[in-house]
Amino acid sequence: MSSIIIALDFANPEEALDFTEKMANTHCRFKIGKELFTRAGPNFVEHLQKQGFKVFLDLKYHDIPNTVAKACQAAADLGVWMLNVHALGGRNMLMAAREALTHYTNPPLLIAVSILTSLDEKDLCEIGLQGRLEENVLRLAKLAHTCGLDGLVCSPLEIKLIHTKVSQDLQLITPGIRLAHSPKDDQKRTMTPTEAWQAGANYLVIGRPITTAADPLKVFLDIEKSRQPYASH
Ligand code: C5P
Repeated sequence: MSSIIIALDFANPEEALDFTEKMANTHCRFKIGKELFTRAGPNFVEHLQKQGFKVFLDLKYHDIPNTVAKACQAAADLGVWMLNVHALGGRNMLMAAREALTHYTNPPLLIAVSILTSLDEKDLCEIGLQGRLEENVLRLAKLAHTCGLDGLVCSPLEIKLIHTKVSQDLQLITPGIRLAHSPKDDQKRTMTPTEAWQAGANYLVIGRPITTAADPLKVFLDIEKSRQPYASH
């Protein structure tokens, strides 16, 4: 199974299906976020899973502990491979999410989002989070780790910091991946796939560099090939 998670950021299920058909037999994984899930729902997730794809349900749950715990169970019942919650939901919410998944024989990986990469220090200050951005990311990463979460979504530039200061055992999932020649789009802090694997990323989330390519299958296979030297991560 590939360690590349392709972000299915399509406005409607037809376009998304068109794309997933091109990726049949590649063993890639797919990330379904709020837009596609709101439009296409659990049936779409089940459809992909029936075809053998692993799904990362990127709904970033953030609510009272009971609500998040029940949502995590609903996602686990759907059979997703990975799901995520906001670390900013706090200790009780993170523990409730962890506890909610303990009774599954094969639970989804439970991943925390620390600080959204769309926020800078000015934004953090405005919502009452003092200190440098990295300090906030580290504090939330430590909290997620002590609550028993399996990993974190983070910028590839934060991998070394988290592995050194929090734990080597956390699964790190990194968006913000760009090929050397591909446009940055709205991503600011990017790395190439090779750089991210070298830094220790476990899974790369890649959207537009693959989904908008003239030949998405070729781009995917080329990136996959470039992983081989780092495949032991
Ligand atoms: O097209 P691109 O490769 O930029 O897609 C990256 C995906 O990862 C998008 O679905 C985006 O929402 C998601 N993401 C991100 N940065 C984060 C968290 C998630 O780009 N910090």
